[in-house]
Amino acid sequence: MRDEPLLVARGIRKAFPYREKWWKPVSHAIALADVSIEVNRAEIVGLLGESGSGKSTLAKIIVGLMKADAGSLTFDGRTLFGGAEPAVKASQRGIQMVFQDPYSSLNPRMRVEQLIGEGLRIAGDVNRADIRQRVAQCMELVGLDPKDRSLYPHQFSGGQRQRISIARALVMRPRLLIADEAVSALDVSVQMQILNLFLDLREAMDLSILFITHNLAVVEYLCDRVAVIENGAIVETGPASAVFDNPQQPYTKALLNAAPALVAPPVSDHCS
Ligand SMILES: Nc1ncnc2c1ncn2[C@@H]1O[C@H](COP(=O)(O)OP(=O)(O)OP(=O)(O)O)[C@@H](O)[C@H]1O
Ligand SMILES: [Mg+2]
Repeated sequence: MRDEPLLVARGIRKAFPYREKWWKPVSHAIALADVSIEVNRAEIVGLLGESGSGKSTLAKIIVGLMKADAGSLTFDGRTLFGGAEPAVKASQRGIQMVFQDPYSSLNPRMRVEQLIGEGLRIAGDVNRADIRQRVAQCMELVGLDPKDRSLYPHQFSGGQRQRISIARALVMRPRLLIADEAVSALDVSVQMQILNLFLDLREAMDLSILFITHNLAVVEYLCDRVAVIENGAIVETGPASAVFDNPQQPYTKALLNAAPALVAPPVSDHCS
């Protein structure tokens, strides 16, 4: 079991119904045509594609926020959907997601401690003292001071808020983290700190990460492997260095040519 990938998605399809004009019949926009992707244990895979290519749709399906029309998903050898077994919630199996915008994704009326502990409170099987302890541990893990547990999100910077979002995910002890444009809203130097945090977490927890972005520099810095998605289909996948040095598909070449020069300076940051 340990040799097979942690996450295996096969033939995932998703279409959204829409009407061009209200009197016209319903058409379907195909967001995912037939996506297969794997993530190994402690691997960081970059999902790279331009806007509208289907990245967030795939993320939502994997994490269980949206249903696929077809396909199957297995995680740690168990079927999440599309198999003979009944579907299981991704969060119960150890998949968590971190979203793009650290400003709108945190409830401004909740204290950091409540925000980070929310998932555990909802799950309901951990007592209050243990929740407090796990919240403090996770704050330390992401480089926040547990003494700040009673503050509100607006009292933190953008980078710190993204650390709060990451701690919210980590408190559930995930095996796979899906980060959807998780650094795009941050300044370049703060982006680097958060990317380094992801690298530290992979080391510390054997965490696997599916890192969604349209930023090539980020993929090159962070990812072991890259999957390139175009119009809802994976067109190229391989070790990040191979795909960047020798792209095979015209779409990948076009993405690489359109990318600005790599800007990310190697700022070191120790947050664990
Ligand atoms: N809830 C929805 N209803 C209708 N269409 C949708 C819905 N969600 C996504 N789509 C469509 O599916 C396609 C893929 O969208 P998706 O959000 O997955 O792209 P993306 O790769 O994440 O783009 P971005 O880089 O801009 O975040 C787009 O054409 C989008 O308009
Ligand atoms: Mg998206």
